[in-house]
Amino acid sequence: RVLILDFGSQVTQLIARRIREAGVYCEILPFSVGDERVRAFAPRAVILSGGPASVTEAGSPRAPEAVWTLGVPVLGICYGQQTMCEQLGGKVEPGDTREFGRAFVDVREPCALFEGVWTPGAREQVWMSHGDRVARLPDGFRTVATSEGAPFAIVADDVRRFYGVQFHPEVVHTPHGDALIRNFLFGVSGLSGGWTMAAYRAQSVEKIRAQVGTGKVICGLSGGVDSSVAAVLIHEAVGEQLTCIFVDTGLMRAGEAQEVVTLFRDHYNIPLVHVDAADLFLGELEGVSDPEVKRKTIGRLFIEVFDREAAKIGGAEFLAQGTLYPDVIESVSFTGGPSVTIKSHHNVGGLPERMKLKLVEPLRELFKDEVRALGRELGLPHSFVGRHPFPGPGLAIRVPGEITREKLEILRKADQIYLEEIRNAGLYDAIWQAFAVLLPVRTVGVMGDGRTYDYACALRAVTSVDGMTADYYPFDHGFLGRVATRIINEVRGINRVTYDITSKPPGTIEWE
Ligand code: XMP
Repeated sequence: RVLILDFGSQVTQLIARRIREAGVYCEILPFSVGDERVRAFAPRAVILSGGPASVTEAGSPRAPEAVWTLGVPVLGICYGQQTMCEQLGGKVEPGDTREFGRAFVDVREPCALFEGVWTPGAREQVWMSHGDRVARLPDGFRTVATSEGAPFAIVADDVRRFYGVQFHPEVVHTPHGDALIRNFLFGVSGLSGGWTMAAYRAQSVEKIRAQVGTGKVICGLSGGVDSSVAAVLIHEAVGEQLTCIFVDTGLMRAGEAQEVVTLFRDHYNIPLVHVDAADLFLGELEGVSDPEVKRKTIGRLFIEVFDREAAKIGGAEFLAQGTLYPDVIESVSFTGGPSVTIKSHHNVGGLPERMKLKLVEPLRELFKDEVRALGRELGLPHSFVGRHPFPGPGLAIRVPGEITREKLEILRKADQIYLEEIRNAGLYDAIWQAFAVLLPVRTVGVMGDGRTYDYACALRAVTSVDGMTADYYPFDHGFLGRVATRIINEVRGINRVTYDITSKPPGTIEWE
């Protein structure tokens, strides 16, 4: 396995992605972990990421010394290259030409890093983002490629198998970057690339069995990808020792609650407690229109209901959670300052401490699309695996203002038509999230010869990689017209449809 030491680059996770796509397991740790942890990790190769600091500043981050004495190949990227050169006796200085974005390197000499990809004499496109540059090489190193702003664009110590690149091979804007990373993994480090989802599945099953023993596990199902995959995997490992609890808040989309019950109870035969708590949730939400109060109310009720059901099952020692890798990477932050709460997410946050349960988190090492791949490997239907993210508070935050059963019913119908049209047009997988929002405004319309005075509805569809930033999806007008007509004709209660073209930022994906 490969160890990535993070110096705080925005794109460190992409290094991990590229390595895993090559079928090699890797983990990211902060640069500051110290020698012992590096040795304990026993990596077969180490990658030093980029980072925002300057090697020339006093007190700037350095790689643990153990990295140089493990006897394994090391690849330094950007800041990683600079600290490698500095730590091994070279010199880094502020460059007079800063390079940001697209740049070109001139390949000077052959090198194992780009064997079979680039040849000496060629000029190749890369993506750079640096101000400093290496000014003198440590002993044992040679320069194999140069660029205008970086006379040491690629450096190599073939004997120790230490390589440094000033550019970022992990981003797609470096066209052959993934081939270079593969060369480092396979050619230089002798790794084999057998890490597949089938292997991961088998490993996880063993790990879960070892952790859980004969104990009882409970798992909260939400209908989303993560909790579904976690549940099916744990069931494969410990069978009936797992009980799932599905709290039906009455705030799910059309038909969704039934789908969850059918899939888990009938198809997978997983013991499932289906709690119909719609009356409780909708009752407590009566008269509530503030989005944060909605979230807090739903979060609190969820925990209460879950807690009560878990107590009924009795004797559970473990709580399963679909925590993903991006939530657990120990991040390196140089900015420090407190971040502002835009929305209070994660409604089940308080569960584990409160219930004194040990956590089983079989997806902790995976990225979202790897979870999807594992879901496919486990035979989950595409409709589950490829599902758009759905917020914990559900439709409550898609009915701005006060929620009523009537409004929820109207919204469900509109949302269903919208998603059906998106699926029919083959657009579902190209969109990160799509949904309808029922606006708390009535507008005047005319239908037949009569006047209508009904709700307006907004359609939202965005593209995004991680939900942090997003852009609206550019549907063609014909499509939007078709959806609007269907909603107005088929959904009693809506007489006007709008399309939201706000990006994030400045907007958020949800309306509340
Ligand atoms: P925003 O609206 O903040 O949403 O741009 C970003 C992503 O988070 C989801 N979201 C939530 N998920 N509880 C959740 O579990 C919440 O309270 C919540 N609010 C927003 C949203 O659907 C999008 O994927």
